[in-house]
Amino acid sequence: MKRAALVASAPAKVILFGEHFVVYGTPALLAAINRRTTAKARKRDDGKIVIKSDIGASAEYARTGFRLLKGDKKAKEILDPIYDAIIRAHGKQPESNGLQVELKSDIPYGIGLGSSAASCVASIAAVDSLFDSHDRDWICKRAVESERMIHKNSSGADCYVSTFGGVMRYSKDGGYQKINAGKQLRLVVGNTGILHSTGRLVERVSKFRESNPKEFRSLSEKAEGICANAFQAIELGNIETLGQLMTKNQQLLRQIDVSHSKAELLITLSLQAGALGAKITGAGGGGAVIALARSIKDSAGIAAAIRKQGYDSMEVRTDRNGLVFQKP
Ligand code: PMV
Repeated sequence: MKRAALVASAPAKVILFGEHFVVYGTPALLAAINRRTTAKARKRDDGKIVIKSDIGASAEYARTGFRLLKGDKKAKEILDPIYDAIIRAHGKQPESNGLQVELKSDIPYGIGLGSSAASCVASIAAVDSLFDSHDRDWICKRAVESERMIHKNSSGADCYVSTFGGVMRYSKDGGYQKINAGKQLRLVVGNTGILHSTGRLVERVSKFRESNPKEFRSLSEKAEGICANAFQAIELGNIETLGQLMTKNQQLLRQIDVSHSKAELLITLSLQAGALGAKITGAGGGGAVIALARSIKDSAGIAAAIRKQGYDSMEVRTDRNGLVFQKP
């Protein structure tokens, strides 16, 4: 299918259940949410690859090297995977013609919401549509390769859920499976304001597992049981059960020491404000928490309770669309 569009957008994600344990083979459930990164691609005639963004980082990559246009030393770390994604989408470094990608994002960076995956997916899709028209599988695969610049052992689940949208189950052995969700979920994302390093937290869990093999096995079994029940609850649209399971999952995450006092505070505030359940999402150690809301009214109340204590919060819904091509 030929696409004329050169603007594409891709959603953020949350891990609903099973983070960390998924690294050792048990499943995780993930969902795309309605916060997006939009990429607009155009050709340049000066051989440069220019990435402009509203996420505090812009730069140009030329034969003469890297030149920062906006941002601090973290900017290169943010932009390198996107540059890699652009080159992969094009197939090679363009010789005479350059490319420009402009990114606009409402996904906070570095708190486990898959902002980098969404940028890679959207950039590849936008650049690809300038030259070719590969399918979503192709775009997703290229994005996973770029994401591995950040997390060498990344499962690729972020890129997958950002490309295809919806709610899905992922396991190392079983791969991806879309879940036919009975209801769109309303979630509040609370931001502890602490950027996390997924690699460091995965390492911490690995040490915990080495020192406590029996306990870790038992916790993994519990995580697996929670995921199986949550899968069913999502299909049936049983959000009360789902909320309880989220809070149970958080107990396991506490036990493997990936929670954080600020995350615990936001979880407590959410539950006091009427959330059906709450937990960290992603690697933890700060980052983001998610709280499940019964209604729009509850969602607004939970978000306000978090903000009242001086933390950012966002009301979100699960997103069914994944990657979307838009008119420029
Ligand atoms: O915070 P994130 O989105 O990078 O989440 C990482 C999820 C882990 O389970 C902790 C690691 C992984 O590779 O699955």
